Amino acid sequence: MEQLLRKWDGEEVIIRFDKLTGAWIIIAIHNTRLGIGTGGTRMKSYQTLQDALQDAMNLSEGMSYKYAVSNFSRGGAKAVIALPHNFDSTKRADLLRRYGKLIHQLGGLFETGPDVGTSPDDMDIISETGDPYIFCRTPQKGGAGDSGPATALGVFSGMQAVCEQLFNDPSLKAKRVLVQGTGSVGYPLIQLLLEAGAEVLFSEIDEAAVTQLRNNNKLTFVHPDTIFETPCDILAPCALGGILNKDTIPRLKCLAVAGGANNQLAEPADAERLSGRQILYAPDYAINIGGAMAIIGMETMGWSQAEADQHVASVRQTLKHIFAIAKAEGINTDVAARRIARSRLFGKA
Ligand code: PHE
Repeated sequence: MEQLLRKWDGEEVIIRFDKLTGAWIIIAIHNTRLGIGTGGTRMKSYQTLQDALQDAMNLSEGMSYKYAVSNFSRGGAKAVIALPHNFDSTKRADLLRRYGKLIHQLGGLFETGPDVGTSPDDMDIISETGDPYIFCRTPQKGGAGDSGPATALGVFSGMQAVCEQLFNDPSLKAKRVLVQGTGSVGYPLIQLLLEAGAEVLFSEIDEAAVTQLRNNNKLTFVHPDTIFETPCDILAPCALGGILNKDTIPRLKCLAVAGGANNQLAEPADAERLSGRQILYAPDYAINIGGAMAIIGMETMGWSQAEADQHVASVRQTLKHIFAIAKAEGINTDVAARRIARSRLFGKA
């Protein structure tokens, strides 16, 4: 853990042990040069505390790059609530209230919204003690609700840039898209793709969700074990991170990867592996800003839903710019995006 903290280029990490549940609360603030540290709260179990810390650090760094590459005035941060394996879910609401209190005590150093394992309902509970630093409360509680649909809209706009690059035509009509994960981002993304006339394949590990989606005869189910070798135009990872790595990349049969999950690459070298296979990669932090952008805009800048959608559609231009730089400089798209973000985060490329 000491090694991890020493070599991290972020600003600070706040760690609290919640004695009443055995959960660890970790808030990682990566870079606040562009604004207040803002990122979702991920709640799940980890193998070790170190894994949880590492995840929080990686995810908060991802948020810094996310805002920077899109020139959005927020700083990178993320929270992880690492639950014990025997977590008693009846204690969940009180844990969230104690977490909210911690956020309140930080006095504006960190603002949060939902992420994997948390929802707008959870944000309502956290905001009981954490106000006014909580995004995505339910509309009944005065919030803008779930960020998933806006993230999906941004991913969809990014896919248009991908199609433009691949086929000289932004339309997704008749394009074969495999969506991995049908949660708060994957599900609305599937709807947008169907509306656009794409051929949609989906993969999901949750049995109940699979059964429900299988009722839709427009969708084709892909078993989670065969995701990587299934031929498609675009693979859209919308579940957990690390899925693009030295084992999976050689198996891919897609032309592009463009999806909403955070931290899709297991390591930076994977971007080079993808470009080595001529697979166009839409850097995750560039394509998945939609949710954060729309919600922050609506809740703090008075954007209407229509204005938010318009801003989110700028993901397409951001990606076009990244692809153009990558091509002009002969570098992969991840390196190109990082270069843009770094110049804004650290004042140098
Ligand atoms: N899960 C969102 C993301 O990764 C987090 C978020 C939502 C942050 C809403 C701020 C507001 O971008």
